[in-house]
Amino acid sequence: MADLTELGSEVTACQRCGLCKTRLHAVPGDGPVSARLMFIGEAPGKQEDQQGRPFIGASGKFLTHLIARAGFQREQAYITNVVKCRPPDNRDPRPEEIVACASFLDRQIALINPAVIVTVGRISMARYFPNEKISAIHGQARQINGRLVVAMYHPAAALHQPALRTTLQTDFDALRLLLDKQFGVDQGATQRASP
Ligand code: URA
Repeated sequence: MADLTELGSEVTACQRCGLCKTRLHAVPGDGPVSARLMFIGEAPGKQEDQQGRPFIGASGKFLTHLIARAGFQREQAYITNVVKCRPPDNRDPRPEEIVACASFLDRQIALINPAVIVTVGRISMARYFPNEKISAIHGQARQINGRLVVAMYHPAAALHQPALRTTLQTDFDALRLLLDKQFGVDQGATQRASP
């Protein structure tokens, strides 16, 4: 099986959908293969496209703050997106683009084998909770295929709707309790990330 670095090279060279024509950089994902916690966002934005790294713009800064509220350092988690290339003008990824990219995400999850997956926003939520509404299930954990999966609002939504900021902070505070239970309260973040 290819490792994360080889997989990243495949993503970087990918031409499976039209997004390869408009991207500056594909954005495979960031983080250690030993990560026990994985965040899955939607698709790269402008800054991510420029630098080839996920969640480094305004919503990424807020996500980093939220991850810290959950008791982890960003570098301990694996962070990626459903779609690895920026859709023009940040439109929603199209179904065929999600399908074209799906095996990359499947392989990342198989290689990392995280105990906990946090979906960030509607598009990644749909992978695990296809018929649910984010307003109904945000912050709740479910066991799916041997992992805990938690759906969160997208931090970008909170930049436009201030009330969601509090909701996200409350949900990530609750995530901290869940992670403490999963990985051990007193072990410290380093051990929590790699058992
Ligand atoms: N929004 C996302 O969903 N992913 C990113 O990497 C950046 C912004």
